[in-house]
Amino acid sequence: MNLIFLGPPGAGKGTMAGRLAQELGIPQISTGDIIRAAIRSQSPLGLRVKEIVESGGLVPDDLTINLVEERLKEEDARNGYILDGFPRTIVQADALGGLSKVELVINFVLSEDEIVKRLSGRRVHPASGRTYHVIFNPPKVEGKDDLSGEDLITRPDDQVDAIRTRLKVYQDQTSPLIGYYKREDLLVDLDASPAPDLVFQELLKLCGK
Ligand code: AP5
Repeated sequence: MNLIFLGPPGAGKGTMAGRLAQELGIPQISTGDIIRAAIRSQSPLGLRVKEIVESGGLVPDDLTINLVEERLKEEDARNGYILDGFPRTIVQADALGGLSKVELVINFVLSEDEIVKRLSGRRVHPASGRTYHVIFNPPKVEGKDDLSGEDLITRPDDQVDAIRTRLKVYQDQTSPLIGYYKREDLLVDLDASPAPDLVFQELLKLCGK
């Protein structure tokens, strides 16, 4: 199944994509995770985009399109994928249409108040991308990843100013994709406000499971 997870920052796309990927045996392709790994490794791409990402802006379309094009060629994406965080602009959506046949777009719906609560309490394990929340999804040991025991961090773009920028960027550049995929009759809404297990149950239903 070829899936897109669309929705504002902090709506739970990454959390649910990880669970669904395991359930369906298809890869979660998170452009945010790929870009953060590039920043950590100080690759040419990482050095070029570090400042943009940490302030909450979008990486240029040509770079993200190229990343996704290469990733979709990998063996594990042949039987389906979950694109988490891509496309984010009309240009990216048009490019994706030329690369692959999208089958379903899940639109995560969450209020701005809830988004801010989720992002300000988020903690991540940088190496794996595993995500926690200090209240809603705490690690077994405070500040430590459940599997590796390594330190958790707060993402630089989860600071208040960057959150504000990301919300505006979402409204201006990404939310038009809701209409775009509605017109293609591919989009379904998912209420992202309940507890994670309930959201996941609804997600499974939307995917016909
Ligand atoms: P990206 O990593 O994609 O960030 P995002 O879209 O802003 O999404 P988030 O990762 O912030 O949130 P999420 O919806 O995955 O929520 P999560 O599951 O973590 O992108 C980062 C940056 O990279 C961009 O700003 C941009 O610079 C660049 N970039 C990436 N893709 C790009 C592209 N295509 N084009 C250009 N630039 C690009 O959940 C959030 C918190 O809530 C967690 O703490 C979690 O534990 C908790 N939580 C989750 N579900 C629930 C629930 N049901 N109830 C309570 N808490 C919950």
